[in-house]
Amino acid sequence: MTTILGIAGSLRKGSYNAALVRAASEVAPAGTGFEIGSIASIPVYDGDLEQEHGVPEAVTALKERIVAANGLLLATPEYNGSLPGAFKNAVDWLSRPPKDIARVFGNKPVAIIGATPGVGGTRLAQAAWLPVLRGLGTRPWFGKQLYVAGAGQAFDEDGRLVDEKVRRSLSEFMAAFVEFVAAP
Ligand SMILES: Cc1cc2nc3c(=O)[nH]c(=O)nc-3n(C[C@H](O)[C@H](O)[C@H](O)COP(=O)(O)O)c2cc1C
Repeated sequence: MTTILGIAGSLRKGSYNAALVRAASEVAPAGTGFEIGSIASIPVYDGDLEQEHGVPEAVTALKERIVAANGLLLATPEYNGSLPGAFKNAVDWLSRPPKDIARVFGNKPVAIIGATPGVGGTRLAQAAWLPVLRGLGTRPWFGKQLYVAGAGQAFDEDGRLVDEKVRRSLSEFMAAFVEFVAAP
């Protein structure tokens, strides 16, 4: 069974990106093991804290979930035309210690999606992740693109993806990504 770990880069209860990850789990091909990880409880990176106490438990736990998953799906908000600090902070922690990067991220299939109430669909944020994913040695997937603009209309008040066109695109995206992840 192909397993995907979806992580949204927002701490907000009503996060559109968290809703997008949940929608991705709904439309993933039958037989896909889809799990949802969280960046909540990850502190702001501080080298002194790391030296004194090591990598926090929440980070270690998420690292092991990434290791266990065949593929990683990142749903990124866009802040000021780039990636959000909280999400980058989480990935920075996940990259500690450096000797563990290859085990956690090396050759890991990764796809990026994102949702915003704005018109740009998180294009800039998704692009901003590319050097990070490259630096970590991941295997980013570029087979399809998914930019959810006007998220206030695409999702209902309960965070359900109600835009049928976006749902179809997400479904095609997930089918192709899972196929990529499953390929030897
Ligand atoms: C500091 C800040 C900067 C933002 N900058 C952008 C931006 O550059 N482009 C954009 O589309 N949305 C921008 N937004 C709006 C976010 O897309 C919106 O808050 C979105 O709901 C965040 O994702 P979430 O719903 O998953 O929390 C910004 C929001 C904040 C708080």
